[in-house]
Amino acid sequence: MSAESYYSRIIDGKFLAQQIEDEVRSGVKELKNSHGVIPGLATILVGGDPASKMYVHLKHKACERVGIRAEDYLLPAEASQEDLFSLIDSLNRDINVHAILLQLPLPKHISPQAAMEAITSTKDADGFHPYNMGKLMIGNEGLVPCTPHGVIRVLEEYNVSVKGKNVVIIGHSNVVGKPMAAMFLNRNATVSVCHVFTDNLKKYTLGADILVVAAGVKYLIKADMVKEGVVIFDVGITKEENGVYGDVDFENVIKKASLLTPVPGGVGPITIAMLMKHVLMCAGK
Ligand code: GUN
Repeated sequence: MSAESYYSRIIDGKFLAQQIEDEVRSGVKELKNSHGVIPGLATILVGGDPASKMYVHLKHKACERVGIRAEDYLLPAEASQEDLFSLIDSLNRDINVHAILLQLPLPKHISPQAAMEAITSTKDADGFHPYNMGKLMIGNEGLVPCTPHGVIRVLEEYNVSVKGKNVVIIGHSNVVGKPMAAMFLNRNATVSVCHVFTDNLKKYTLGADILVVAAGVKYLIKADMVKEGVVIFDVGITKEENGVYGDVDFENVIKKASLLTPVPGGVGPITIAMLMKHVLMCAGK
C-alpha cells in the first residue's frame, strides 16, 4: 500500500475535533454577544479513579479552549447517594450551570440509572437521561450520547451514506452500543448489535459495511473478520504499561478498511468535542 493510500484511510480525530471546537467557540461568542450568556458546565467525579480523573481533566481543557466556563466537583469514593443527589439538585437549580456531566463509572453503592435520572434532562450534556434516551428511540434526537453523536458526525464529514447499509455494533452498553444502534436505525441502516454473548462474532463482522467496536478487548477485530472497504470506528481503549490499544488490530485491518479511526487520536477527541457542542445546546444554541 502506498503511503498516500495508507494515510488517507485513517480518520484524523484530532483534526475533526478542532473543527468542531471552532464551531463551538463561535457559538459561545455569539451567545455571549446576543444574550450575555456564558455557557457553564459542571463536572462531577465520585472517587479518584485515575482514568476518570484524566477524562474529566481533558473535558476541562476543552472547555478552556472554546470559552465554556467549567466547574469541577469531586466527591470522595465513600460519598453516599444522598450526598451526590444533593449536589446534583443544587446544580440543577443553578442558573449559571447549563450542563452537568457525571463521570462514569460510579462506585458500586450508587445507582448510575438513578443518578442519570436525577440530572435535569435539559442539562444532560451526556444524553443519558431516560427522557433524552426515549426521544432518541422515537427518532427525535436532541441531547444524545457524545460518542455515537461523534460517529455520525464523522460519517457526515467523510460523506459516507448510511441508508440501507449493514451496520454492525459490538458492545451493547447504554453509553455507546444502544444509542449508536438507535442513531443508525433513525438513518435507515440495517443494524446488528453484538456483545460478549454473541455466538460466532465473525459471521456478523464479515457482513459489515460500517463497524463500530466498543468491546474494550485489545485487537478483538482482526483482518480476516472484515470485508474489503469497510468503515470502522474503534471505540475501545485498553491501557497497558507500554501504550494504549484499541479493539482493532490496526496495522493489519487498515489494509482492508476504507476508513478507520486510530487509538489514540480517533474517536476520543471527537467525543470530547461533541460534549462541548452539547453544553452549547444546553445553554440555548
Ligand atoms: N465514562 C466513560 N465514557 C463516558 C461518557 O461518555 N460520559 C460520562 N459521563 N462518563 C463516561
